Amino acid sequence: MGKDVIIACDFKEKQELMDFISGFRGLNPYLKIGMELFYAQGPEIVRELKREGFRIFLDLKLMDIPNTVKKAMASLRGLGVDMTNLHALGSSDMMKAAIEGLMGEDGKRPLLIAVTLLTSMSEEVMQKELLIPEKLDSAVMHYAENAKNSGLDGVVCSPLEAGKVHEVCGKKFLTVTPGIRFADGDKGDQVRVTTPEKAKLLGSDYIVVGRPITAAPDPVAAYKRCVAEFCD
Ligand code: C5P
Repeated sequence: MGKDVIIACDFKEKQELMDFISGFRGLNPYLKIGMELFYAQGPEIVRELKREGFRIFLDLKLMDIPNTVKKAMASLRGLGVDMTNLHALGSSDMMKAAIEGLMGEDGKRPLLIAVTLLTSMSEEVMQKELLIPEKLDSAVMHYAENAKNSGLDGVVCSPLEAGKVHEVCGKKFLTVTPGIRFADGDKGDQVRVTTPEKAKLLGSDYIVVGRPITAAPDPVAAYKRCVAEFCD
């Protein structure tokens, strides 16, 4: 699987998104569409971007009973997305049902990746509030293994965890990693950040990059810089 850069399109308004992507036509980047835009604009926004030829990672982080997730995934497959995700916390049964829902009649399906534990979750909250008496790191690796054993393609994780995930789940299990900043850039609210070049060395398969591209004076140049550092 080749390495790729996914642009996190964290915009509220459709017009903002359309203005932003107008510079990228022809470059065929992967775009990440999240809950904010999807719930505000509906599935048509995804259809429109697919019609324009963009690859889409639909970041909706599903979690519900297996049957509901299976049917929701079938709906997402109908949108033609290239990658989508769910919470590994929803159980192996739910992850397996999700794969059934995503699978097309031709035996093809979008990539399905798992969120292990949200990075906003601290070990203290996990242990004291959720009563999971584990080290956070071992819980994350265990959920990654559950995802792999359920047939998923990879996990969202920090580039700093990518090597360990590959050790535990194998080289082909994808690591999709946010928290990317240029060496000379602003960290914003991300704490543990890595450059595209470092993410490549650490073994990330996809980097998810938002503000270093979306807020750059020249977003296309910033995207090309990410591709040059990470993919080439
Ligand atoms: O602007 P920035 O590059 O920080 O955006 C990163 C993107 O990745 C955002 O869409 C953010 O929600 C997402 N993300 C993250 N950290 C995670 C999971 C997702 O930053 N652990």
